[in-house]
Amino acid sequence: MPHPYWEHPDWYDVHDNTSVAGPDREPEHYREFLIALPPVGADDHVVDVGAGTGKLSDLLAQAYRDVGLVTLIEPNERKLERARARLAARLGDARVRPLRAVLGEAARLPAGEATLAIVGSVLMPVVVGRGGTLRDGRAWVVRALAEIRSLLRPGAWLYDVETVAMPWDVGAAEGPTRRLTPLELVDAVVAAGFDAVECVYRFRDRIVLKAQRPPDR
Ligand SMILES: C[S@@+](CC[C@H](N)C(=O)[O-])C[C@H]1O[C@@H](n2cnc3c(N)ncnc32)[C@H](O)[C@@H]1O
Repeated sequence: MPHPYWEHPDWYDVHDNTSVAGPDREPEHYREFLIALPPVGADDHVVDVGAGTGKLSDLLAQAYRDVGLVTLIEPNERKLERARARLAARLGDARVRPLRAVLGEAARLPAGEATLAIVGSVLMPVVVGRGGTLRDGRAWVVRALAEIRSLLRPGAWLYDVETVAMPWDVGAAEGPTRRLTPLELVDAVVAAGFDAVECVYRFRDRIVLKAQRPPDR
C-alpha cells in the first residue's frame, strides 16, 4: 500500500519523478563526495570497499596523486582486475592492492590498517540484492559496517555515498528488505561501533555520510 502522502494529488504532482536524484546526477554526487573528504597524502592508506571498476578511488587518486596505498575490496574478479589496472595506471602497481572479498560474511580482512574507508553505492544495492526481510537486511548492513570499522585504524574515518529510501518507504521489520532510510542507515552506522556520524551531503535520495572509528576502540 502506498504511503498516504502519495494519495494527495498536489503532493503527488510535486513529487512524481522528482523525489529521486536520477542516475544522470551521479557525477555530481561523486564530486560532492570527493569535496567532503579530508586531505589525503602519502601517509594515507585508503580502502575502497565494494570498489567495482574503481570509479570512486580513481576520482580520489586523480585529486590526491600522492596517496600512499589504495586497497580495493571487491568480490567480482573481473571488476576487481579492471579497478586494479585503472588505479595502477594512475598510481603505479606498488600503491594498489586488490583484495577479492565479500563484505558482511565474516571474510578474513586486514585489520586496523586503513586511514580512510570509502564506500560508493554498495550497502544499499547489496541489501536489496540479498533479499530476505528488512530485519535481515539491517543486520547485514550492521555486520558489513562493523567489518569496515575493523579495517580502519582507531580514529580513522569512513565516507559512504548511498542511494537511500525515502521517509515514506516504510516497511515492517518482517516485511521484504529495502534500502534503508537515512535515519536507519545512521542507526546502523552507530550500531556498528562508529562515532561522530554526520550527513555531509544530501540531494533527494542520495546522501554522503561520514563517521569515525573511535580513537580508543
Ligand atoms: C553499485 S556497485 C558500486 C561500485 C563502485 N563503488 C562505484 O562507486 O562505482 C556495487 C559494488 O559492490 C560489490 N559488492 C556486492 N556485494 C558485495 C559485498 N558483500 N562486499 C563488497 N562488495 C560487494 C559489487 O560487486 C559491485 O561492484
